[in-house]
Amino acid sequence: MALLRLYTRALGMLGAERGLALVLAIASVAIGLVQLAEPILFGRVVDSLSRGEGAFTYIALWALLGLFGIIAGAAVAVFADRLAHRRHLASMADAFERAMTLPTSYHAERGAGAVVRSILQGTEALFWLWLGALREQLTAIVSIVLLVPTAISMDARMAAILGSLAVAYVVMSTIVMRKTRSGQANVERYNSLVFGRVGDVVSNVTVVQSFTRLQAEAAAMRTVMSDLLAAQYPVLTWWGVLTVLQRSAATITMVAVLATGAVLAGRGELSVGEIVSFVAFAGLLIGKLDQVTNFVTAIHRRAPALEGYFALLDAAQGVEEKPDAQPLPEPVRGDVRYENVSFRFPASEQGIFDVDLAAAPGRTVALVGPTGSGKTTTLSLLQRLRAPDSGRILVDGHDIAGVTLASLRRSIAVVFQEAGLFNRSIGDNIAVGRPGATLAEVEEAARLAEAHDFIMRKPGGYDFIIGERGAALSGGERQRLAIARAILKDAPILILDEATSALDASTEARIKQALDRLRRDRTTFIIAHRLSTVADADEIVVFDHGRIVERGRFDELAKGGGVFARMVAEGGFTVPSTEG
Ligand SMILES: Nc1ncnc2c1ncn2[C@@H]1O[C@H](COP(=O)(O)OP(=O)(O)O)[C@@H](O)[C@H]1O
Ligand SMILES: [Mg+2]
Repeated sequence: MALLRLYTRALGMLGAERGLALVLAIASVAIGLVQLAEPILFGRVVDSLSRGEGAFTYIALWALLGLFGIIAGAAVAVFADRLAHRRHLASMADAFERAMTLPTSYHAERGAGAVVRSILQGTEALFWLWLGALREQLTAIVSIVLLVPTAISMDARMAAILGSLAVAYVVMSTIVMRKTRSGQANVERYNSLVFGRVGDVVSNVTVVQSFTRLQAEAAAMRTVMSDLLAAQYPVLTWWGVLTVLQRSAATITMVAVLATGAVLAGRGELSVGEIVSFVAFAGLLIGKLDQVTNFVTAIHRRAPALEGYFALLDAAQGVEEKPDAQPLPEPVRGDVRYENVSFRFPASEQGIFDVDLAAAPGRTVALVGPTGSGKTTTLSLLQRLRAPDSGRILVDGHDIAGVTLASLRRSIAVVFQEAGLFNRSIGDNIAVGRPGATLAEVEEAARLAEAHDFIMRKPGGYDFIIGERGAALSGGERQRLAIARAILKDAPILILDEATSALDASTEARIKQALDRLRRDRTTFIIAHRLSTVADADEIVVFDHGRIVERGRFDELAKGGGVFARMVAEGGFTVPSTEG
């Protein structure tokens, strides 16, 4: 059964602390035995008293077992709680790391809100499952399982009543869980939708405000919410029905036990003490069955959240590393070669086709062409964010398919059009380029990126917190931090993907010096729409519809009668006024 699989997988995650979990499990079993002994002792005490005998041996035994139960219970409560909390955070950290290795397309499809929810809800479900299993469920199951033979050995007829109760509970819970399965999955789907929407809208709050979208967004949200409620109500009704049925079954059982007990006692086949024991058994059984069914149905209700969590853990990484992957041999020179590389987006006609490209160490290759012609895609293959369908890409003569992702990505520094900044200090954002960099190194990189002066004008300088995605900085400032980060990374291969496209001409001219300095001695791939940026490239390759249609040096291409010459003539390339 799917639920059992989820359950065992979740419990399996406690394997990291197997020893403690085992000790807790044994303690739980012991507590279960104590709880079962209590009704028996109760009956014995009553029988002894009714026979006019002393019952102090039983009472002492009872006190002793009770004390043991209390101590064991306290120990289990404390350690199980701590264990569950510990593993809760650990599983959250695991999911976080895992989510960060998933391809960007996964995040783009699901949205940050839904991914966050998957992690939070899933780990919370795990927490309750662990805590419940360790603290109560094992005890309850031991009580139930041992209660049946104990009761049979005392009186089979009375035991049959208790047995019927247990069967009724199992049957009723199973039916209700069946009935609510698809409804529960729908509830979860709508919940996920709500969170995805909230995340999406909150992160676009400026658009919402400037386009006065508030009402429309709020209305859309209310629609999803009412769908959610519509899916939720029938599920809640079923749970209500289950509760009523369980209460009825419990009451009927109690009455049956007392009535049958009275009849049997009248015939002299059962002692008063045994009736007392059976009434206590019935109370114990009802309590434990309630506990177990509540727990099972709670898992059932959280099953979609758990499944979402496990699906996140199991989601195929965009690009798997080969088990025998080797790091690129140091020092990496930065010799890059594309051999007949083709890649097509899944379920799409678009991609890149038969791309051949070579960049010797220290050389600059410019990729130009209309937007959507495949330039960014071509360079994403070099970073192995995606894998080619055919052909291969070599760095220093090594096929990057057989290279560890960490060593490959260590060798490549990237500056995108979007700077990609964290809501942290300026210093921390630059230090992303090289963890453990000293303050002096960070400052040096900032100077080279022409960023030091503006940073010093900020309150707190390098400690200035720049807001989400660098909202407290101008576009040019953000970009210079991204460049400083790349400088600090000091990688042999550099990718500049429209790094300066969003900037005005004079800011670009200033940043260009920083970029030229950065390009020196590095293999550079540059995507740009400005003549000044591509003019001194060692080779320009022109993309159109995913294919290289032209290649050469700037003057050859500009003079020739091809696509590039036409782009220059049509002003497809802007010439900054300060070009020099
Ligand atoms: N994840 C994706 N799924 C399907 N098509 C995509 C995806 N990403 C990009 N594309 C398409 O592939 C083409 C090339 O994109 P891209 O390489 O980003 O172009 P550019 O030359 O502007 O950098 C575009 O038409 C784009 O719409
Ligand atoms: Mg692009």
